[in-house]
Amino acid sequence: MKICFKLNGQGVKVDVDPLQPLLHTLREQLGMTSPKQGCGEGECGSCSIIMDNQLVNTCLIPTIQAKGTALVTLEGLRNTPKGLCVIDALLEAKGVQCGFCSPAMVLAIYHLLDNRVCANITPTDQQIREALAGNLCRCTGYAMIVEAAKIAARKGEGIW
Ligand code: FES
Ligand code: FES
Repeated sequence: MKICFKLNGQGVKVDVDPLQPLLHTLREQLGMTSPKQGCGEGECGSCSIIMDNQLVNTCLIPTIQAKGTALVTLEGLRNTPKGLCVIDALLEAKGVQCGFCSPAMVLAIYHLLDNRVCANITPTDQQIREALAGNLCRCTGYAMIVEAAKIAARKGEGIW
């Protein structure tokens, strides 16, 4: 079945089994390797992307559900000022170790900061932890990732 959606601002059309997980379509058909296959059960968040401004786990979403939506992966975000701000903050805070969770963490932090009511309010630890609750990290213990979100909020003044 042919399915059309926007991916990182570009219109794309894929010819796939409509029930194929979107994660598989992104990685195998569209070359988007930043979403990772972790648990495959909606628990770890490593496969997450942004769909119509919502963080979603692509391992659980049949590709047909992407029809007509706008998707953002790290590939689309990493060269933007906001994406770079979050990536730099994660590196500064040493919030990246093995890196398996990192693409989804970047998207989760970006999503949190970009949806603040007021761009000059730094989220609290609790707000950040809630925003990252769907993303598991086996390496960092989370404190450095929380710190990265605060750095990105502070340093990104003028770009959010
Ligand atoms: S691989 Fe999708 S939530 Fe773990
Ligand atoms: S840095 Fe290794 S899982 Fe998060």
